[in-house]
Amino acid sequence: MFEPLAITDMVLALLAMIAGLVVGRRAAGPTARLRRWLSIMAALVAARLVVALLILTGGTVLAESRLVVQVPLAVLPVAWAVRRPSRTAAQVAAAGVLLSGWWLFVPFGAQDTWFVLAGSTAALVAIAALGRWRRSGSRASRMPWPAVALLLVPAVGLALAGQANAAAAGHHHSAAGGISVDQLTGPRDREPDVRVTLTAARGEVRLASGHAADALLFNGTAPGPEIRAEVGQLVEVTLVNSDVEEGVSLHWHGVDVPNAEDGVPGVTQNAVRPGGRHVYRFVPNRSGTFWYHTHRDALRSVERGLFGALVVEDAGRGAAGFERTLFTHRWPAAAAAITAFDRADQPTRQAVEAGREVRLRLINSSAEPNRVHVGGTPFTVAAIDGNPIEGAAPVGPGTDLLLAAGGRYDLTFTMPDGPVTLAIDASAALALSPGGTAVPAAPATGALFDPFTYGSGAAPAPDDHDRTFDLRLDDGFGFGPGGFGYVSSSINGRLYPAVPTLEVVEGERVKVRIANRSIVDHPMHLHGHRVRVLSRNGVPAAGGAWWTDTLNVAPGEVFEIAFTADNPGIWMDHCHNFEHGANGMILHLAYEGVTTPYSADHAPE
Ligand code: C2O
Ligand code: CU
Repeated sequence: MFEPLAITDMVLALLAMIAGLVVGRRAAGPTARLRRWLSIMAALVAARLVVALLILTGGTVLAESRLVVQVPLAVLPVAWAVRRPSRTAAQVAAAGVLLSGWWLFVPFGAQDTWFVLAGSTAALVAIAALGRWRRSGSRASRMPWPAVALLLVPAVGLALAGQANAAAAGHHHSAAGGISVDQLTGPRDREPDVRVTLTAARGEVRLASGHAADALLFNGTAPGPEIRAEVGQLVEVTLVNSDVEEGVSLHWHGVDVPNAEDGVPGVTQNAVRPGGRHVYRFVPNRSGTFWYHTHRDALRSVERGLFGALVVEDAGRGAAGFERTLFTHRWPAAAAAITAFDRADQPTRQAVEAGREVRLRLINSSAEPNRVHVGGTPFTVAAIDGNPIEGAAPVGPGTDLLLAAGGRYDLTFTMPDGPVTLAIDASAALALSPGGTAVPAAPATGALFDPFTYGSGAAPAPDDHDRTFDLRLDDGFGFGPGGFGYVSSSINGRLYPAVPTLEVVEGERVKVRIANRSIVDHPMHLHGHRVRVLSRNGVPAAGGAWWTDTLNVAPGEVFEIAFTADNPGIWMDHCHNFEHGANGMILHLAYEGVTTPYSADHAPE
């Protein structure tokens, strides 16, 4: 419901702003015309009020900036002008409508509310005062002062936000006497159990259809080689950059590695330049499906191939039945991106004996959520983001899974006599069958699986938190990496690096409330910790505990999540739609006393 309302509101605000410009120009003209335009403007503003009230039914946090700032700034002056139309009143009303629209399209944080309200009111009062002075007819009073007063507020606001950007760029570097992220490494003093070298190089990826494209490869392939380890084993991965200009790093998505091994250029290391290398060492503490990917220029480098799977098993328990890891990936192409399971962008087949236990590990390496239809068998969602689900029971054949960008689902079932189909669309489709000859069933849409209510018997999450943070995700205009533009990516009215850091002390229990007030999905990923979902849109989670590291927050959704601050360091918390990340939808979680010697020469995305 939120999304259509938000879009309606944008259209109404734009129309009201156009009417405002007309009213501003006609303010001195014949009153009949002025009245007509005033009533058009008033109708649009009234409609915005209704829409804001409808949005309010979805939650206060979704409507607050409309109800506290945008609606009063427009409604009050417009009501005044309609009741007592005069040149001055019309100018003030037009200015109010323009300011109101401005604050819809340029998001601000809750912390800015008083500044925004005070500045905007001052501008409107100034315009009213100027109107009286104008009647004196002096030459100076004939300058376009109302426009100046109106421009002043947003200009000051933008300048302040820009300053916050510049000031924030240097944080975490100065504190003396702390511990440096460089000291927070994995074990350096014993022999690794698993040793892998990943060499990143430019190359070409060839999809099943024959489509070939420039790519970035690990050890000559994309996705890169699958790494397998057991819980408690020491994994050592040497990253070598052969010729990737942009630089590379390795982030272990979903594994709570020590901070120095986290692979974030500018925060935990420098990017590895062509000819360079970097050694990562960590001991996975949980089994599950994870993945690795570069964290340098991730927007362009992950989609072109710098990623692979990391599967961690419980000690001594190798794969018993049939097991397969499948990336759902959108390969960049000239026209539209090509969706595929790994490199299979056309229907494929796979032989699996009837009666075998099957585990499919789905990993979404795309920037967008992918919806996978599973047909032909009931199946169990055994794990989400590597976390087993308590009381997981089979769901019916024909269920759809929505994988968050960066998220993973493990599916288990006993292979039936007939075929099992996994399909994203008609071409990204896979059929498993005993003979290996069945073709995937025709594309279909089923009921959507909801992790929020899945499973049973979860112990309730403790409700005492040492700290609570609020993240409000908005879209609008702002200073992104490419200058001023429309970026659907602000957190609390700021873009990285100006988004205030979440500061915690080791051992604290932390609650975070994430509200998506934009009209696009934001898969939020916290490094170094797994989080438990507490509630969605005010409803407490039911079923088995939902632990995740990548939570898709859809437009209008408000999630409460909690985690324990048990892994000291400076961590990224960002949208896994890398385009949003590059635009600035990134913040840090920093433990008290931890500093970094690195600095981002641009956003660590
Ligand atoms: Cu999978 Cu910071 O990313
Ligand atoms: Cu996003």
